[in-house]
Amino acid sequence: MSGLWKTALTAACWAIALPVTNAQKSGFDYVDPLIGTTNGGHVFPGATLPFGMAKAGADVLGGENQGGFSSDGADIMGFSHMHDSGTGGSPSLGNFPIFPQAGCPNNDLNACNYTSWERATPRVNGTVKAHPGYFAITLASQIRAEMTVTNHTALYRFTFPETPFTPNTTLSPVMLVELSDLPMTRTNGKISASASSGRLTGGGTFSPSFGIGSYQSFFCLDFSGADLIDTGVFANSRAGRAKQLSVRANGVDNSPKIRPAGGWAHFKAPKKNGQLLARVGMSFISEAKACANAEKEIPDFDFDGTLRAAENIWKEKLDVIKIKDGGVSDVLLKAFWSGVYRSMISPQDYTGENPKWQSSEPYYDSFYCIWDSFRSIHPLITLLDPHSQTLMVRSLLDIYRYEGKLPDCRMSHCKGFTQGGSNADIVIADAYFKNISAGIDWKLAYEALISDAEVEPANWDVEGRGGLESWKSLGYIPTEDFDILGVGTITRSVSRTVEYAYNDFVIALLAKEFGHMDDYRKYLGRSGNWKNMFKTDQKSDIKGTDTGFVGFLQPRYMNGTWGFQDPIFCSPLLEFTSCYLNPGGHETYEGSSWLYTFFVPGDMATLITTLGGADSFVARLNYLHESGILYIGDEQGFLKVFLYHYAGRPALSATRARFYIPSQFNDTINGIPGNDDSGAMGSFEALTMMGIFPNAGQDVYFITPPFFESVSIRNGQTGKTATIRNINFDPSGKNVYIQSATLDGKPYTRNWLQHSFFLEGGTLELTLGASESKWGTRVQDVPPSLGPFGNGTVGGNGTGAYNSTVNRRWEMPRLDGHAGWMS
Ligand SMILES: *[C@@H]1O[C@H](CO)[C@@H](O)[C@H](O)[C@H]1NC(C)=O
Ligand SMILES: *[C@@H]1O[C@H](CO)[C@@H](O)[C@H](O)[C@H]1NC(C)=O
Ligand SMILES: *[C@@H]1O[C@H](CO)[C@@H](O)[C@H](O)[C@H]1NC(C)=O
Ligand SMILES: *[C@@H]1O[C@H](CO)[C@@H](O)[C@H](O)[C@H]1NC(C)=O
Ligand SMILES: *[C@@H]1O[C@H](CO)[C@@H](O)[C@H](O)[C@H]1NC(C)=O
Ligand SMILES: *[C@@H]1O[C@H](CO)[C@@H](O)[C@H](O)[C@H]1NC(C)=O
Ligand SMILES: *[C@@H]1O[C@H](CO)[C@@H](O)[C@H](O)[C@H]1NC(C)=O
Ligand SMILES: *[C@@H]1O[C@H](CO)[C@@H](O)[C@H](O)[C@H]1NC(C)=O
Ligand SMILES: *[C@@H]1O[C@H](CO)[C@@H](O)[C@H](O)[C@H]1NC(C)=O
Ligand SMILES: *[C@@H]1O[C@H](CO)[C@@H](O)[C@H](O)[C@H]1NC(C)=O
Repeated sequence: MSGLWKTALTAACWAIALPVTNAQKSGFDYVDPLIGTTNGGHVFPGATLPFGMAKAGADVLGGENQGGFSSDGADIMGFSHMHDSGTGGSPSLGNFPIFPQAGCPNNDLNACNYTSWERATPRVNGTVKAHPGYFAITLASQIRAEMTVTNHTALYRFTFPETPFTPNTTLSPVMLVELSDLPMTRTNGKISASASSGRLTGGGTFSPSFGIGSYQSFFCLDFSGADLIDTGVFANSRAGRAKQLSVRANGVDNSPKIRPAGGWAHFKAPKKNGQLLARVGMSFISEAKACANAEKEIPDFDFDGTLRAAENIWKEKLDVIKIKDGGVSDVLLKAFWSGVYRSMISPQDYTGENPKWQSSEPYYDSFYCIWDSFRSIHPLITLLDPHSQTLMVRSLLDIYRYEGKLPDCRMSHCKGFTQGGSNADIVIADAYFKNISAGIDWKLAYEALISDAEVEPANWDVEGRGGLESWKSLGYIPTEDFDILGVGTITRSVSRTVEYAYNDFVIALLAKEFGHMDDYRKYLGRSGNWKNMFKTDQKSDIKGTDTGFVGFLQPRYMNGTWGFQDPIFCSPLLEFTSCYLNPGGHETYEGSSWLYTFFVPGDMATLITTLGGADSFVARLNYLHESGILYIGDEQGFLKVFLYHYAGRPALSATRARFYIPSQFNDTINGIPGNDDSGAMGSFEALTMMGIFPNAGQDVYFITPPFFESVSIRNGQTGKTATIRNINFDPSGKNVYIQSATLDGKPYTRNWLQHSFFLEGGTLELTLGASESKWGTRVQDVPPSLGPFGNGTVGGNGTGAYNSTVNRRWEMPRLDGHAGWMS
């Protein structure tokens, strides 16, 4: 999704922290969770464990609160315990916010503030502190809020001023919890308050932020640190001592906007340091499960201990990468480590919290969305945390098993909206080629992929593909398709065509692996369908001036007649925001025909031939980057940085990478150019700066010089370490041209790597210089394509596919983990 879419006190642990010098700093110390919290980044900067379900953060009232918080001046309306990060669309989750008040004026409960808009309080500027596992902020009421988490439980430490900020008030804290969520979608809800323990429990029914259906969520809130006076419930702006409240829709709109409701607990002054702890267990199953999660994970309200545990988990996660920085600026180090960090926030591990089916398989949620994440998030997780990627793939297959289709987007147990192709196909193929294997049922995986390719679902807005009848008979998705098989948003015919074509390409690769040669030929044939939308004589002009490039993807009708969409339409140069996912959309999605014309990831050789050969291709790619047509803040921009590799010009990919980082990806709060989309921008930064951006769905990493002197990655499956080292490294980034390379001491001329390098370990040494060299430029040096380089004729049945000399990748020995399915 794109950035423009839709719209006091210091924590004890910091007080004693000593200044750290660069030499002592680890990756953990460079992470700044606040990067991307303005300017459309929508990053969630609060406390979370890697892929954790509990995500505690401060929520702002209005504005860009998709991820809960934003670094603008908006008021804080509460602290909630689950979030998504970096999404477009409407805000996500944020259920059951809690809110502290130091006391009510004249000890009158009704003189406190209850509704989100009444209680929302400015922050004290400069008081936000965030690092992995921790978030803190001071409100204008002089209350400092700190938070940390375990997997399903948030723990807050509120420190109250001795003298409350509000006139006529003595310190006697009132804590609220509201039956609400960030987008204010609650329909049904109920809450119970215990006068003896102070425990507040409840649940409600809510809507997902970018999908269909509804979900239920439950909480269990306990306090520690002060004697309880009483508990009760509130409705609108009045509080009372009743201990139960329930809201039911009954045909009226009683959302939190219309009917705010929740509970409160009132305390005497805290016993120690003005501090009151609040523990919030979360569950999608029941209140009892929420309480059990909390009691199990944080039995003793030990804030410092819980925080230390969270920090250590993050240190361990980040420790698989070692950097020798070579003296580069902190800007790059912070951007890099923060990017790695943000790639490990979602998908979220909801294993044991799935109300929809019973299964012994893992369950992950917040695949938000795979259109955004297949390109770099999942490939990065595969590199850094193959175990988690394995669980995620198994979870995708379990979703297929119970829902009948793989998701393209999923959040809060609901089906999310599909933006283009069935891109889980690519995640699965990528995993297969990278030895993600333990416990994966490849037979089921193959069945799921074939289902995407062959069986149109009733509602293809939320799974699978639409227009399959035309796809099979015409070989493209026509404008105004006649589709009687299913229902969906009949737009994006051009972008869906090229995405379906690549989906079929990766299915063909797997078919070959699994020995289904008829399927192999069939899907290889369909993978060439992008050509059916390529109008060879289409020109492109900008404000009446011909760009000089001929041949672009164009829409077509069912009768074969060409339609027209200006090739720059929906680029930043012309009606940028006209191609979103709504009925008024057009024939491309969040981008122009100029951009989509480059999307043939499986057959770049044929595309290069089609666009007039390598020189002409390079000129066109340069124009894409330099004219303003490309917007790097949307995921489809990423691969375009590296396509020069296919034209034998890896040096140009390296200079493009340097152009975008740090000018568009850096260490400031607005330091990413678009929605982070669960870490997509972060994973782009991380992979690009390590010099190994992948072509997702294939066993291909493009080699560019790392932004640091050296980078090492320890593989979680084999324990081996792969190191990429720059010789003649220059921290100012002028020597970015590879002159020669060696792999484990032997000359290495291919401009791409395979995953076996990371599995087996080894050292790739890149000797750098100040100008482009001949390294990696020959036909046999470029990554594999369906058609041989410079020739590229591919028959509809797959004739001419894979020249095994050029495309050595496809000859890679089969990996052990897949033997079960092969036999
Ligand atoms: C705090 O910062 C915001 C901008 O982020 C500004 O609008 C506001 O005036 C500042 N408040 C104070 C008290 O300086
Ligand atoms: C309630 O809100 C009002 C208006 O923002 C504010 O002046 C007052 O201090 C708040 N009361 C408490 C108890 O925080
Ligand atoms: C938290 O969940 C992760 C998996 O996502 C698991 O490895 C870890 O053991 C869990 N931690 C605890 C304390 O249960
Ligand atoms: C504070 O209390 C005094 C005495 O009860 C009263 O006169 C005054 O109006 C109160 N002020 C506020 C702001 O409530
Ligand atoms: C093909 O269909 C389009 C859209 O319905 C129509 O405008 C066009 O005239 C048709 N062309 C021919 C040759 O029938
Ligand atoms: C950092 O990145 C943002 C977002 O792309 C950009 O607007 C800003 O100019 C960059 N800042 C610097 C100092 O490069
Ligand atoms: C693939 O992963 C498994 C663990 O899942 C590991 O035992 C094996 O060595 C890996 N295979 C290769 C070729 O590295
Ligand atoms: C490409 O190679 C194939 C097989 O070698 C050959 O039949 C075909 O004529 C070549 N096409 C071009 C355009 O050179
Ligand atoms: C593809 O079709 C050509 C003729 O069109 C035929 O000669 C060839 O054998 C076919 N190849 C395969 C792999 O089916
Ligand atoms: C494959 O490519 C190599 C290198 O370009 C070439 O020498 C060889 O003839 C090709 N093989 C076939 C079967 O086309």
